[in-house]
Amino acid sequence: MRNRWIKHDSVTSTNTCLADLVKNQSLEEGTIVITDYQDGGRGLGEHSWLSRRGENLLMSLLLFPAFLSASKQFHLSRMASLALCDALETLGIDPVIKWPNDILTRKGKIAGILIEHGITAGNISHTIMGIGLNLNQTAFPAFPVPATSLRLETGQGANVAEVGEIVEASLMSRYHGLKEGHFELLEKEYMERLFMAGVPSVFKAGGEVFEGTIRGVTGFGELMVEYGGGMRTFGHGAISMELKSGNP
Ligand code: BTN
Repeated sequence: MRNRWIKHDSVTSTNTCLADLVKNQSLEEGTIVITDYQDGGRGLGEHSWLSRRGENLLMSLLLFPAFLSASKQFHLSRMASLALCDALETLGIDPVIKWPNDILTRKGKIAGILIEHGITAGNISHTIMGIGLNLNQTAFPAFPVPATSLRLETGQGANVAEVGEIVEASLMSRYHGLKEGHFELLEKEYMERLFMAGVPSVFKAGGEVFEGTIRGVTGFGELMVEYGGGMRTFGHGAISMELKSGNP
C-alpha cells in the first residue's frame, strides 16, 4: 500500500506538511505523509511530540469524511484510537484508550493521535489524522504520563515502515466501517477500551475535586461524566483524573 505514501527524511510535522499539500494540490483519500524525523512535532493542545530520528512511526493520513457533520467529528477519533489498538494487538500489546485518544499500556503512553479537520459550512471537508507510535525508542524525557514503546513493552522492536503498513490497513478498515455507518459498534468498542469508563473515579475540574463516573463522549469529543445525579461534559484540558499509582 506504499503507493500513496509521501516519504520525507525530515519535516516540521507530518500534519503540517499534509495540511500544506492539501491546500495546494488535489490529493487522493488515503494519502499518507510519513517521516523519520519531525523538528516541530505537535501533540494535543500546546504539547509537542518528541521522537528520535528513525526509531518510531510518525505519519499523517488524509481522509475526506464528507458523510459526517462537524457535530459528529468524534467518530473519527474513536475509529483512529480503535485502529491503533487493533494494530498494537497484532504486535502483541493489549492497550487501553485514555480519553480522548491517548493509547496506553500499563507502563505508560505508547501512542498519540492528533486529528485536525478542515470544516466548510458545518461539514468536514478533510481530516488529517496524525499518528505517533513509539516502536524502538527506549529512553524518553520525563512526562507526567511516562512514555513507553513497543520495545520497552515486549523486548522487541519493529521495522517502522512495516508497522506503518499495519497501521494504515487498520485505519482504512475502521474508516470503511465508519463509512458504512457502524457508529454504535464503534461507540461500544470505544467504551470497552476506555480507561476507567463506568468506574467511579476522582476527577479535578476548575479547582474542584469530585467523584464521578465516565459515561460517554459527545459528538464533539467532550467527556460525559455522571456526577451528583446529573451529567456534566468537559472539553479537553478542562478535566483530569486523579490517578492512583499502578493505573495507566
Ligand atoms: C498527543 O498525544 O498529544 C498527540 C500526538 C500526535 C503526534 C503525531 S506524530 C505524527 C503527527 N505529526 C505531528 O506533528 N503530530 C502527530
